[in-house]
Amino acid sequence: MPRKQRRYPLTPSSPTIKSPLPSPPIFASLSFFFSKETKMGRDELCITVPSLFHCPISLDVMNSPVSLCTGVSYDRSSIQHWLDSGHDTCPATMQVLSSKDFVPNLTLRRLINLWTSSNSSPSTADLEEKVMAWIEEINNAKPERCLDSIVEFASRGEVNRSLLASFDGFLETIVGVLSINGMQIRVLESVVRILSLILLENGVNEKLHKLILKSSSNSSCLPSFISILRNGSLESKMACFTVLESVTTNNESKRFIAGVENNFLPVIIHLIKIDNDNQELHDVVLSFLIAVSVARSIKSQLVQLGIVEVLSNMMSSKNAAISVVEKSLKILSMVCTCADGQSALSGDQKCAGAIVERLMKVSKTATEDAVVVLWSMCCLFRDEKVVEKVARSNGVTKVLLVMQSEVGEGNYVRRMCGDLIKVLRFGCKNVGGFSGAVSYETKTTHIMPC
Ligand SMILES: *[C@@H]1O[C@H](CO)[C@@H](O)[C@H](O)[C@H]1NC(C)=O
Ligand SMILES: *[C@@H]1O[C@H](CO)[C@@H](O)[C@H](O)[C@H]1NC(C)=O
Ligand SMILES: *[C@@H]1O[C@H](CO)[C@@H](O)[C@H](O)[C@H]1NC(C)=O
Ligand SMILES: *[C@@H]1O[C@H](CO)[C@@H](O)[C@H](O)[C@H]1NC(C)=O
Ligand SMILES: *[C@@H]1O[C@H](CO)[C@@H](O)[C@H](O)[C@H]1NC(C)=O
Repeated sequence: MPRKQRRYPLTPSSPTIKSPLPSPPIFASLSFFFSKETKMGRDELCITVPSLFHCPISLDVMNSPVSLCTGVSYDRSSIQHWLDSGHDTCPATMQVLSSKDFVPNLTLRRLINLWTSSNSSPSTADLEEKVMAWIEEINNAKPERCLDSIVEFASRGEVNRSLLASFDGFLETIVGVLSINGMQIRVLESVVRILSLILLENGVNEKLHKLILKSSSNSSCLPSFISILRNGSLESKMACFTVLESVTTNNESKRFIAGVENNFLPVIIHLIKIDNDNQELHDVVLSFLIAVSVARSIKSQLVQLGIVEVLSNMMSSKNAAISVVEKSLKILSMVCTCADGQSALSGDQKCAGAIVERLMKVSKTATEDAVVVLWSMCCLFRDEKVVEKVARSNGVTKVLLVMQSEVGEGNYVRRMCGDLIKVLRFGCKNVGGFSGAVSYETKTTHIMPC
């Protein structure tokens, strides 16, 4: 390889020009310190600059690496300044130089260029160009071509997500895909995945609320969500709930989404019936059901779809996660005061026993929910079958324990426990009416027959 050499005229050493470096021993320790610093900073900055790329003099990544005859490489301007100020040593090794020539280290330069281009983030203009091209492809009815790239893009970094979220027309375009009939399930899944990724960005929630729920009368997105809940992957199903729960923010939208005409609740109940041991999915589904059960008609629909039996099975399962049990109790407390809920509870073989079994093994709030259900069944509706089941499950002792615990202190729960114990000990027929029973006011339920 031809060595292209270039001589730099030496200026005589002048006392007024200060050496760019401290005295040699300090330099050595400084250089050690800095190379160590780079390594330590790595994890925090998530940038790994190979130490070879730093100029030993300036400590910056080299623009134009050149090598001295000692084999050590420096940035051209740094070493030139060093030699120009009269030194005749190699700054890193302190060897006296037999020649002050240096040659460009092209290999190193190429490596640095390669590294720099692969590590610098593309400019905002490039990214916007990209998003624009995607929107165009989707508008040209070819969403399947680019959705995977968008998912990848949105998974990588906050900058990308906020760009997508604020990009004019982006949300409208991808939500539009959801309202196209007969779209492939994979395409729908990608869209929902993208929505779940950018959901937390500024303003997305409000926009999505409008796009998904307001457009519903004409071109609805809900059938697409239903398709995913029926045929999608578990991950996409979870993403559906994330998106739906975050956009159903007011009573109007909850009533809409859970309305009979949308056929949504049957799909959800079916989902947890068939996938009967996935606690993570159960948890998400139950949260959603709690959130949307804002009307008597919705609760009634849930009961008709067999929610009591589903919850009863969930609570009886040994593998049930505590949060799933707690949410089950919450939903039971929401449906137990209605006649159809009561009759479903009355007819279920396992439910009362499962509730008693869990009574003291859940959070305070869930224990309160459990007491509401038992009280409603035994004292409000005077269901003898349930009273018998609760008594057989050692209910008296358990309810007494609740009464003595902090759960029962100073609120309606304590009074309900008192009522329950009377009924469990003496039977429904032998206990008189509960004064003020129908006016027990809980945090979530106004206890009265409906
Ligand atoms: C270029 O720099 C690298 C790393 O410092 C070194 O290993 C290599 O020998 C240098 N090449 C030349 C031609 O000096
Ligand atoms: C944004 O996505 C692009 C392409 O997928 C990626 O190269 C870039 O690193 C991402 N930006 C950030 C900040 O992660
Ligand atoms: C929805 O349909 C009604 C008539 O059925 C129409 O007047 C309205 O413009 C449509 N809205 C949208 C957003 O397409
Ligand atoms: C989706 O699932 C339903 C029932 O769960 C099934 O009848 C239908 O054939 C499936 N569709 C596709 C495209 O797999
Ligand atoms: C929503 O519905 C619930 C239950 O019907 C009711 O208690 C609540 O006040 C309603 N909220 C609004 C903002 O209307």
